[in-house]
Amino acid sequence: MRVRCVKNLIETQSINTIQQSKMNPVSKHTRRRLLNGLWVTLSGLALAEIAWVVGTFLKPLKSNGSSEQPVKVIDVGPADLFLPRTVTAFPQGRFYLACLEDGGFLALSRRCTHLGCTVPWDPEKGQFACPCHASVFDIRGDVIRSPAPRALDRFAVAIENNRVKVNVGKPIRRSTFDNKQVVYRVHP
Ligand code: FES
Repeated sequence: MRVRCVKNLIETQSINTIQQSKMNPVSKHTRRRLLNGLWVTLSGLALAEIAWVVGTFLKPLKSNGSSEQPVKVIDVGPADLFLPRTVTAFPQGRFYLACLEDGGFLALSRRCTHLGCTVPWDPEKGQFACPCHASVFDIRGDVIRSPAPRALDRFAVAIENNRVKVNVGKPIRRSTFDNKQVVYRVHP
């Protein structure tokens, strides 16, 4: 008896649903259009997001043409600390501070200008020797032996209150050594 009641109820609901759908073809059509519209909108949003992500990755970094160089200054200590004809490594800043024969200072990148290997200083020979392809540089970073195509990059040096400060924010590219690159302490 109970089973028959349930069966009748299901049959009645099915008939109602069929009748509703037959009676209201417009609402069915409208629903389909709404769903299609929603689908198109969501697809458009997804495509726009993908385009934005791809564009962000492919966009070249802004060139620092002029004054917008990042500043990160390392105070390496009193100028008197460094003796002429010596090179001191500063691994945290990835540079060497070279104190030249006349007491002038140069901060040199430790990155080889051939393919970027780290270049160690050889104090006995008084030169930088790249372990990768045998390029050699003198104490000023100039090329003694290729394949390195140009001198080691340098960093800006300033001496303030007898302290040597190196701006490691951006390496300065150069083809060769020039006396203008050397910084001297000013004696009062
Ligand atoms: S990376 Fe230094 S010589 Fe090639």
